[in-house]
Amino acid sequence: MFNMILFGPPGSGKGTQSEKLIEKYRFKHLSTGDLLRSEIARKTPLGLEAKSLMDKGQLVPDEVVIGMISTALEANPGVSGFLFDGFPRTTAQAEALDKLLEFNKTEIGAVVALLVPEDELIARMVNRAKTSGRSDDADENVQRNRLEVYKRDTLPVANHYRKKDKVVELNGVGTVDAIFRELCSVIDQKMRIHE
Ligand code: AP5
Ligand code: MG
Repeated sequence: MFNMILFGPPGSGKGTQSEKLIEKYRFKHLSTGDLLRSEIARKTPLGLEAKSLMDKGQLVPDEVVIGMISTALEANPGVSGFLFDGFPRTTAQAEALDKLLEFNKTEIGAVVALLVPEDELIARMVNRAKTSGRSDDADENVQRNRLEVYKRDTLPVANHYRKKDKVVELNGVGTVDAIFRELCSVIDQKMRIHE
C-alpha cells in the first residue's frame, strides 16, 4: 500500500492533479474539502455547521475532519493507496492521521508540496469563482483569509513531515500536464523506495 499527501495552498492545483493521479495510480482520493461540500449539498447537520466556517475561509474543527477521514479509511479496505488532498491541514490532524495509518499497519509514503506564488493563487481563485459556485472563491477578503490560515495553521504540517524526511517540493506553475509529469516522476521514485 502506498499513501501520499498532495500538499499546497488554496488554488495550487491539488484537486486538478488529484484527478489525473487517481486515474493513473488508482489511488482512493480523499479530499476533505470535497467531502465537506458534499455534506453541505446534502444539508446534513455536519454540513450546516461547516458551511459558515468555510464561507469565511476558516478551518472546520479538527475532530470533525479527523472523524470524516477515519470513517473513509474504514469504508475503503483493500485499496492500493490513499491520496490525501487538503488534509491534514493542522499539526493535530497530521498526528491523528499518522496514528490512524499506524493502526492500519501502513504510513505516508510521500508528501508532495506544490509551490505557487501568492498572486498566481489569487488569480486562479478569481478565475475559478466564475464557474465553481464555491462561495469561498468569490470574495477577495475570504481568498486572503484562506491564504493567511494556510500560512499560520497548515504550513507547520510540512515541517511535521520534513522531520520524517517525506517532503518533496515541486514547482506548481506551468501547464497542468508538465506539473503532472513531474509529480509522476517523484511518485514513481518514492514507490520504488517503498517497495
Ligand atoms: P479545499 O476544498 O481543500 O480548498 P483549498 O485547499 O482552499 O484548495 P482549493 O480546492 O481551492 O485549490 P486546489 O489546490 O485544489 O486547486 P485546484 O486544482 O482546484 O477546502 C475548502 C475549505 O474547506 C477550507 O477553507 C476549510 O474551510 C474546509 N476544509 C477542507 N479541508 C479541511 C481540513 N482538513 N481541516 C479543516 N477545514 C478544512 O485549482 C485551482 C484553480 O486553478 C482551478 O480553477 C484550476 O483549473 C486552476 N489550475 C490548476 N492547475 C493549474 C495550472 N497548472 N495552471 C493554471 N491554472 C491551474
Ligand atoms: Mg481542491
